Formats: sequence, C-alpha cells, structure tokens
Amino acid sequence: MRSSDGYLVDRFLKLKEERSAYVIAHYYQRPEVQDVADFVGDSYSMALAARETSCQTILVAGVDFMAETAVILCPEKTVLTPEPEATCPMANDITARDVLEYKERYPDSIVVCYVNTPAEVKAVSDVCCTSSNAAKIIEKLPPGARIFFIPDRHLGHNIAHRLNRSIDLFHSCCPTHEEVRLNELLELKRRYPAAKILVHPECRPEVVEVADFAGSTKAIIQYAGSSDADSFIIGTECGILHPLQKANPGKEFILATEDLICPNMKSITLEKMIHSLEHMETRVEVEESVRDKARIALERMIEYSS
Ligand code: 13P
Ligand code: SF4
Repeated sequence: MRSSDGYLVDRFLKLKEERSAYVIAHYYQRPEVQDVADFVGDSYSMALAARETSCQTILVAGVDFMAETAVILCPEKTVLTPEPEATCPMANDITARDVLEYKERYPDSIVVCYVNTPAEVKAVSDVCCTSSNAAKIIEKLPPGARIFFIPDRHLGHNIAHRLNRSIDLFHSCCPTHEEVRLNELLELKRRYPAAKILVHPECRPEVVEVADFAGSTKAIIQYAGSSDADSFIIGTECGILHPLQKANPGKEFILATEDLICPNMKSITLEKMIHSLEHMETRVEVEESVRDKARIALERMIEYSS
C-alpha cells in the first residue's frame, strides 16, 4: 500500500466511525474500496445487508441500481452514493414504457426483472431477481405462464436453457461481460488445460455452455474456494480477482480477457467515498409512489429465494 493510500484509508475509517455509517461494496469495486467496506457481496447479499444493518446511514460502493435497491428496501435509512454518475448501461436500456407495452399485448404474462434495472422499471414488474436466484424464482412461477425476462438477454437465455423453459427476452446485455468470447476462452483453456472455467451468467450463451460453472459473483467465489482445482479461468469483472486471491493465496486466477472492466464500478474511489461521508452526499432518493411499487417486486424476490 502506498503511504497516500494509508492516509486515505485512515481518514475514511475515522469518518465512517464519526458518521456511524455502514459501507456496502460490490465485488467489482477497487481492492482498496472493498478493503474498507463493512460488507462486500453480490447484488443479492448487498440488498439483504442493507435491510439487516441497524445503522441509519448506508454508503453504497456500487452502481446506482444497487443504491436504489437499498433505498426501496429501507426507506427510513439515509443511503449515500459516492458517485451519482456510476450507473449500469444495461439497466438504462429499458424503460417502464417497454414493460407496459408488453403487458398490454400479454396481460396475463409475468414480468421478471433483473435487479439491474431503474426503480421505475421494478415498479411495473411482478418479481425482481439477481443472478444468484433467477432460476429458483422462475421455477416457482406457474408452469404454463408466459414470462418476460428483462433486460439481459444473455442471462435470460442462459436460465431458459437451463430450465428448458420458453421465456420472452428483452434485447439488452452487459457490455463488460460481452467481451468474453468463445475463441479466446478456448485458447486459454488450451494453455491452461487443468484450469476450471468459472463465468458469470451475463456472459454469452456459447461461453456459459463451455464453462465448468456459471453463477453470481458470490457463487463463483464459493466455487473456487471449495474446488480441488489449483487454477481457474475467470469470466467476470476483474474486481473479483481481489477477493478470490485474498481467500485462496495458493491458487491461480486467470482473467478470460483483459477487457473485463466495468468503468462505472471503477469510477468509485476512496477519495470520493471520503467526500461523500464528509458532506453526507449524494443522497439517493426514489419517489414514494415508485418506491412502494418497486418494493413489492423486491420483497417478492426475497420471499421466493428463501
Ligand atoms: P452479481 O454480483 O449479483 O453476480 O451481479 C453482477 C453484476 O454485474 C452486477 O452489476
Ligand atoms: Fe452493468 Fe455489466 Fe457493469 Fe454489472 S458489470 S454494472 S451489468 S455494465
């Protein structure tokens, strides 16, 4: 650690204590951000952590839909983001109007929205999900029901394939996970034949098909920790290498491509987190009428996941 980083860490930790703030970070955050957080997790466990903390102030080191989810589930708490511009381009591809138009055509359908959506989209959806529980939730829906999965077509396709179920898909996908290509992956596998391939289900279907395991960031970390293998090819954002290497010092982790970087996740820095707690900004707000409806879809996700 550079000495300037040491100063920033001390400054941040002091402020965190002064403000009695609870810091929740995603595994795609910079290593130094993950290291000062009270909780680091995947999207689902971040949502549960926000609900469970008794702290009145939560600082979310993640993109906007993660902070919005905390606001929707805990409207009585103060939720801060260190970088209001940190967003998810895939989440922003879909609007509430897209969902309402589909609902008009198929009034009996069930809209399953990935947590990577704006609050307004959650508010018009029936049930929310994350990559860790999407298959489980869809399995609980009535067998003949028409399902619209939004907005990630790769995640939707991968679940439909796994469950052998027909699902209508929206057209978007994650620009970061799109960077994992089959040819490059197979070339790496030739170089590291003993390595297990672990990918996120936001990857292209042909990539998920050749993987040894596909799951949420938390599930990938759990798989690598309990596996007998010594090396792994990782098909998800590079931030995950930090918790993987920390928990498994004797194992080797090879990123599927150097392009696995989410610029929005990486736009959060220790300096911005210090500024955020110093000035108690930027407060994340979701309009009450949207919040109340979006909460139904999120609470349903929690109920169906248990
Ligand atoms: P999970 O951490 O829920 O697997 O999500 C990955 C992701 O892309 C979040 O934006
Ligand atoms: Fe969105 Fe992809 Fe970044 Fe996750 S990694 S926040 S899905 S752009």
